[in-house]
Amino acid sequence: MRPKTIILNSLILISLLAGATTVLAADPEAGEALYGTCAACHGPKAEGAVAMKAPALAGQSAAYLARQLHNFRNGVRGTADGDTPGAQMAAMAKTLADDDAVANVAAYIASLPAVTPAATVEGDAVAGNKQYQSKCGACHGSSGQGNDALNAPRLVGLGDTYLIRQFQNFKQGIRGSHPDDKYGRQMKMMAATLNEQQLVDVAAFLNSKSE
Ligand code: HEC
Ligand code: HEC
Repeated sequence: MRPKTIILNSLILISLLAGATTVLAADPEAGEALYGTCAACHGPKAEGAVAMKAPALAGQSAAYLARQLHNFRNGVRGTADGDTPGAQMAAMAKTLADDDAVANVAAYIASLPAVTPAATVEGDAVAGNKQYQSKCGACHGSSGQGNDALNAPRLVGLGDTYLIRQFQNFKQGIRGSHPDDKYGRQMKMMAATLNEQQLVDVAAFLNSKSE
């Protein structure tokens, strides 16, 4: 190999390694220690707690979790009038020291096995399936499993009370209205497409998928 080629190859290798380091930077073990504070509301297995209005987080994608934590830290989420649970979570997100802490805790939570929160609403899962497949499945996946490529979170296993409340937050503009919330804005447009009964039916369909 000519010296020039060797230099070029090493440069490519160095940039590949540098890229790899950024991707591998998240440290779930460090994240586990940080999660201790979060467990008070989200539960030791990140299974969520309806009484605290805290959603299940287990099994959610790391990319989505980290984005929401940044949104809470930057005032993109949790600052709208009337968003008391969001404000509560924003205060918690600000206790994470820096971007590494956010990445680490997100990586830890994403590594936990998904949970099945108890159903709290009764709806028509068959009708909900129809609504879901025509209006939600393209982004969130046909079983509500989420799709990182479209920035759409996992919906199965979130818990129906939280799911319904967030959907209504988008509908009322409590979430998704901040000028920097580009992904929330997409979802806000979609939230106009279900009425209350249809939303309950969709929640019932998603409950049936998480059992
Ligand atoms: C005092 C209770 C409390 C604590 C402690 C807490 N949270 Fe939360 N968290 C909430 C509530 C309430 C919500 C729902 C906010 C809303 O309605 O928008 C939430 C929402 C979230 C969300 C958004 C989930 C989604 O599906 O969009 C993430 C991510 C999150 N919390 C992570 C954490 C992490 C990580 C910690 C620990 C550093 C933590 N939380 C500590 C109460 C808490
Ligand atoms: C065009 C793609 C798209 C479609 C279609 C769509 N969503 Fe979303 N949805 C998103 C994105 C992107 C987010 C994440 C927003 C963010 O990052 O804050 C989201 C977030 C959500 C959330 C918040 C989840 C959480 O953990 O807080 C709920 C609930 C939700 N969508 C329900 C639905 C339902 C129900 C439908 C069908 C009526 C639907 N979505 C259709 C893209 C979509």
